[in-house]
Amino acid sequence: MSGWLIAEDRFEEQDIAHLGNEYLSGNGFMGVRGTLDEYKKEQMVSINLAGVYDKHEDKWRESVNAPNPLYTFVMHQNEVYSVPDKEPVIHSQSLDFRNAIHKRVTTFRAKPGNITIESERFVSMDNRHVIGLAFSVRTDFDGEITLYTGIDSDVWDINGPHFINKQLYEKDGILLASCITGEKKINVVTAEGVLSKIPSDMEVVCRDDKILRKFSFDARANQTYIIEKVAFIDWSERGVSQTECVNKLQKALQLGYDELKARHIEAWDRIWDISEVRIDGDDEANMALNYSIYHLNCIAPRFSESMSIPARGLSGQVYKGAIFWDTEMFMFDYFLYTQPKIARTLIKYRIETLDGARKKAASYGFKGAFFAWESQEGGIDACSDFNVTDVFTGRPMRTYFKDKQVHVTSAIVYALKKYIKNTKDNQILYEGGYELLLESALFYKSILVRRDESELYEIHDVVGPDEYHERVNNNAYTNRMARFVFDTAVEIFVKLRNTDPAEFGRLNQRYDLVNLIPKLEKIKGSLYLQKPSGEEQIIEQFDGYFKLEEVDIETLRTRLLHEKEYWGGALGVATHTRIIKQADVVTMLCMFPDDYSAEIMKKNWDFYEPRTEHGSSLSACMYSLLACRTGNPDAAYPFFLTSAKADLKKGGKQWAGNIYIGGTHPASAGGAWMVAVFGFAGLKVKNNGLAVEGSLPENIKGIEFKVIFRNQLYLVRVGHDKSEIKKI
Ligand code: BGC
Repeated sequence: MSGWLIAEDRFEEQDIAHLGNEYLSGNGFMGVRGTLDEYKKEQMVSINLAGVYDKHEDKWRESVNAPNPLYTFVMHQNEVYSVPDKEPVIHSQSLDFRNAIHKRVTTFRAKPGNITIESERFVSMDNRHVIGLAFSVRTDFDGEITLYTGIDSDVWDINGPHFINKQLYEKDGILLASCITGEKKINVVTAEGVLSKIPSDMEVVCRDDKILRKFSFDARANQTYIIEKVAFIDWSERGVSQTECVNKLQKALQLGYDELKARHIEAWDRIWDISEVRIDGDDEANMALNYSIYHLNCIAPRFSESMSIPARGLSGQVYKGAIFWDTEMFMFDYFLYTQPKIARTLIKYRIETLDGARKKAASYGFKGAFFAWESQEGGIDACSDFNVTDVFTGRPMRTYFKDKQVHVTSAIVYALKKYIKNTKDNQILYEGGYELLLESALFYKSILVRRDESELYEIHDVVGPDEYHERVNNNAYTNRMARFVFDTAVEIFVKLRNTDPAEFGRLNQRYDLVNLIPKLEKIKGSLYLQKPSGEEQIIEQFDGYFKLEEVDIETLRTRLLHEKEYWGGALGVATHTRIIKQADVVTMLCMFPDDYSAEIMKKNWDFYEPRTEHGSSLSACMYSLLACRTGNPDAAYPFFLTSAKADLKKGGKQWAGNIYIGGTHPASAGGAWMVAVFGFAGLKVKNNGLAVEGSLPENIKGIEFKVIFRNQLYLVRVGHDKSEIKKI
């Protein structure tokens, strides 16, 4: 691992799943796992499509994988030379994440000598439908080689199969797999064309859900035989025109592999021009952070006006390909400050899913918008009532993520407010932003409760960010975020009354704003908020948290009966203790840094950190950010690295009970960016402009990056002694 390159220098079968994530390529339209050419569904190959979902029978609704056009392997004397079945003598896999180029080189030992296969591929950032692959084979002996390459439509599914109908055929030299999903009859088409430099006839064969080209040739020792492939992938609910696919693919083939690759690299250059962060004095941090930024760009919905990013990016069907609060709270800022158009697209997705959120609220007897915990298209909540399986009984466990994580709505308002503040793009409010804000406020208003003798409103029976403690009252984070929603609604609608009476009138007709605003104003001042208490000035995470058992994490671990057992829920080992899954009060303090003094924030950091399992990849960055804000950048640093390296580290948390939860961690990646920019560099919006207040760890000499604020590009440089922000 160095500079812009990550690499493996040997083959380890147990790393296949992890490397699929670590070496992912993507362009926001699709994510292609970092798997090898010969891999099949058993090795978790996935060409994961953004925004395409399907439900098979009564299984979990999840995102859909397209047929794989990269499938390629070689044979010699009726033996297949491919991993994992054959042990290679030399193997390497690498990703140049500056240019988003994936490579592998593998040498196998055959009877007469060595066979080396080599491949290079890219998922075009220039043309969202295109993937390029250059594959070569070389032997150090003279002998016959057969190379198969084509489309594998027997795709990996967690809750599939999703294709009820598949057609595999050849048309004008192009191979096609046209598939129809079961639920919505979405047509997914993979087309594949080849520029062959192999002196051989080609035969098309169809078997096992695969359509393949077969090249058989007499290889000469030490000569390299190359094929270049271009694939074109598309989908549509209305049906994809296969003729159009073939035409477009043929055009791409005419441009040639090198030209397609050059255009792809140029498109990435444009991204890096604004996105690169330079960390001086710490190559590891520099590399890990830019690697995180690479991942965020692989999954950014840059080809749509309204779309969002799943919690596991486009690395497969884990978490059902659904969108969580991760996007708004952890990934949003990176896009807001570097590609505000994408930030807009993320907000528009929530506006478009408002209807789903209204329905969800109504289904619980609430008003307004209760956004999906695991959101799919149209705001469908994919979260099941039984999101974890008990490892002991194999029975699904009732979890309350969907019903009780009411904080998701506030995350969206938090992002909307920031978006308007940073871009001054008030137009988004007229495109549904006002409704989103109002419906969010109405939702929180409708879940408030008040005890008989109390003046204060409370929020009961929720799950905060710490999912190990379900159905708690007055979760500090949830209540503070709800307060933020009320504050924002009052601020924006009071302003609207003065600036645009016509729009105010329109909304008033529907929402009775004239009477609603004073009500919201009253509520916001009477919402109960957990406050620092006692000598220690600790903010209680929820009512009764302090009464829970005090135990350290290591002791708790010794109580586990099974390594994959779930720590929360009714019988979880953490449930009755103060051990929490992830940053909760600390996340709140990060979001509202002006609420309390640095001293109080630090006391809370010191209290909660040893009690946090960091069982979610969303946790470390919040601890890191708060450590910077309380003047402890050296304490922040290891948490920053944990965040930035979430997808580089082998063997992360892969299971929740019996459910596979591996995949990429874009929230961690976004969190790492937040720490670098808002933490180490201390960037903030102040007096309608940008300011920095560096908080650099000792080993970092300086940090440099670009940001966009109100349509203006800035260069920011922060060192230990000197900082500057200049317009460029
Ligand atoms: C975390 C949630 C998060 C989800 C998706 C869970 O483990 O507790 O906060 O939204 O993963 O990343």
